[in-house]
Amino acid sequence: MNNNILKILINEDEIKEKVKELGKAITEDYKDKDLMIIGILKGCVIFLSDLVREIDLPLTMDFMVVSSYGSSTKSSGVVRIIKDLEKDITGKDVLIVEDIVDTGLTLNYIVDYLKSRNARSVKICTLLDKAERRKAKVDLEYVGFHIPDEFVVGYGLDYAEAYRNLPFVCVLKPEVYS
Ligand code: IMP
Ligand code: MG
Repeated sequence: MNNNILKILINEDEIKEKVKELGKAITEDYKDKDLMIIGILKGCVIFLSDLVREIDLPLTMDFMVVSSYGSSTKSSGVVRIIKDLEKDITGKDVLIVEDIVDTGLTLNYIVDYLKSRNARSVKICTLLDKAERRKAKVDLEYVGFHIPDEFVVGYGLDYAEAYRNLPFVCVLKPEVYS
């Protein structure tokens, strides 16, 4: 195991089980809808690719890149769209897939943006919810795990672009961040 890891917060089996559960719920809820999954890169990639395989419905996918964190662990509060959607979302039932909702500033902006592009509905599925740090209001339809106010990595989440490929969610040793 990586030497920089302090503790594992959510292990592989717990994630697997939760992703199945979320996929089932989404399958049920979107039966008669026109589901479009929108992933916010890059944090969503691992979660999204596991999740869509647990959704037993026809669906389409698109991706956005927005600026949130640079290489530090603090949010700038400024949201910028770096890569926009490729297809029209008019009439689509959009489900945003995110790795983590922290301050909520990113998603608060994205939800408004997608609604302004005439999606029929816009909902959010996030693997992790760090509710303690919320600054902007966001309604989360599907949440994998509620976590305490700690900076986590793994299963798509990074610190300075590293650790995304760890198969679990963990906290790094404090000296790694300094
Ligand atoms: P928000 O706008 O503050 O909700 O930030 C959302 C984004 O910040 C997430 O999509 C992550 O990319 C990043 N982020 C927030 N907390 C963490 C964390 O604990 N580990 C890694 N990335 C994080
Ligand atoms: Mg992200």
